[in-house]
Amino acid sequence: MIYPRIIAHRCGGALAPENTLAGLRIAARIGCRGVEFDAMLGADGVPVLIHDETLERTTTGLGSVAAIDSTRLLLLDAGCRHHRAFSEESLPSLEQALRLCASLGLWANVEIKPAAGHEAETGRAVARVATAIGGKLLLSSFSPEALQAAAVEAPPLPRAVLVEAVPADWRVRMAESGSRALHCAGNTLTEEMAREVCNAGYPLACYTVNRRDDAARLFALGVSAVFTDRPDLWQVAEM
Ligand code: G3P
Ligand code: MG
Repeated sequence: MIYPRIIAHRCGGALAPENTLAGLRIAARIGCRGVEFDAMLGADGVPVLIHDETLERTTTGLGSVAAIDSTRLLLLDAGCRHHRAFSEESLPSLEQALRLCASLGLWANVEIKPAAGHEAETGRAVARVATAIGGKLLLSSFSPEALQAAAVEAPPLPRAVLVEAVPADWRVRMAESGSRALHCAGNTLTEEMAREVCNAGYPLACYTVNRRDDAARLFALGVSAVFTDRPDLWQVAEM
């Protein structure tokens, strides 16, 4: 699997409100070829882009994402908490985000981010939308149940196991969801574990890496890509 080396975390990293279409546009404008974002279900089962299970931190809404229909979620302002300059920015659906990625030529890592108790349902719904819209896509999740449900729903879509630190049984986790790659926190990755995963032929990608020297250490260990809030630290030719 070929990764862009520099992947804008939560769409545009720190340069835009997280998980918004504005983030995707900014990522593309500065030369990023890849983006990552989080997909969760509204009460009607439609996947939208948001990281937290509750709305308060990143939007003008209140309460649980899982309790509100997507038609209402999509009307929320997901920009002004970042900066008033983005106050027209709506919370997007996964479909809108994937369509924009396709038109901007962005590779997208859709992180399946289920609200508690909605793991399998979220994996299935994200896989269905991803299949319908298409594009250069990779699904990942911290939730084995969500990833396995996505695998059953859409076997051909590439998947990655997402963990904080690489567990000793990482091969089992990969096999259970038919995953082709492993994503872990950059600050947990040891030289030994990087060698073990890379020597087995699986790409590694690390989050969230906001310094060039940290990224350089990881690339030297064989890591294929980093998720960063600061894609602006790299030149276009390095991405
Ligand atoms: O997918 C990598 C990274 O986004 C995982 O952490 O909490 O930012 O979704 P989080
Ligand atoms: Mg994420």
